[in-house]
Amino acid sequence: MDYQNIIFEKEVDIAVVTFNRPKALNALNMEVLAEISDCLDRIAVDEDIRAIILTGAGDKAFVAGADIKFMSTLSPLGAKKFAAQGQEVLFKLETLPIPIIACVNGFALGGGNEIAMACDFIYAAEKAQFGQPEINLGVIPGFGGTQRLSRLVGKGLAKELCLTGEMINARRALEIGLVNKVFPLETLLEETKKTARVMAQKGRVSIRAAKKVIDSGYDVDLRNALAMEADAFGLCFASEDQKEGMAAFIEKRKPVFKGKL
Ligand code: CAA
Repeated sequence: MDYQNIIFEKEVDIAVVTFNRPKALNALNMEVLAEISDCLDRIAVDEDIRAIILTGAGDKAFVAGADIKFMSTLSPLGAKKFAAQGQEVLFKLETLPIPIIACVNGFALGGGNEIAMACDFIYAAEKAQFGQPEINLGVIPGFGGTQRLSRLVGKGLAKELCLTGEMINARRALEIGLVNKVFPLETLLEETKKTARVMAQKGRVSIRAAKKVIDSGYDVDLRNALAMEADAFGLCFASEDQKEGMAAFIEKRKPVFKGKL
């Protein structure tokens, strides 16, 4: 598939995927979702890619939400289908066994904030703004915002954001735990790449296991979640990287992980 609305770039072991509709502040329509979905399928089978960065084109927005002009024409069933498509793509993103960082360079509103939250964590520019402004349009978040936001920052704050529709700045997003780190816009992408490269150098089995257990254990009771952790811990011992990691520690050298599955 040729992409008209996103840019896919590969830098050795990192993929940078850029939402690229700057004139519409990178708003999401069916085509963008289809392209992102296709791109994630490509990445999933590319053995070289060990970390992903999602960002937005232009100097204003990461993604300013679902495309309001497109949504204004939708029937109730059409809207349900659109929400289901968006949720499916975000679920694909969230469950990809590769670390994904949202590099939020500007507005992350509605579907934009929802995409960022489906990533493993968020780095933001100082000038970034976050919010779920759907209430101002007479609707509610449809790509997981009511659920992922409350899981990330708690029910009270999620309700405050979804019920007022007000935006918060990067400093506040950092304070409430929505964002992990904030950088000046000029250094944001490079700082994000630094972290992506750190993760890309680790063992592939242990990276997959850590991501999967943190995500799938989150909604499970502690005893069962810990059982999942023990299983995944055991599985790591089937990897060459476990042997290399522990041998390197004992031999007082840096490990060289091969990332073999
Ligand atoms: N959909 C479609 N077009 C959008 C858009 C969106 N979500 N956000 C911005 N644009 C377009 C504007 O219509 C404008 O296009 P034109 O020049 O053709 O008029 C262009 O992008 C620039 O936007 P503004 O002129 O509005 O820029 P601004 O700097 O004055 O304001 C903003 C920026 C505060 C982000 C404002 O654009 C805004 O409020 N956008 C809408 C944000 C929003 O409500 N997002 C939630 C959408 S609903 C959703 O996402 C549902 C869901 O959960 C799936």
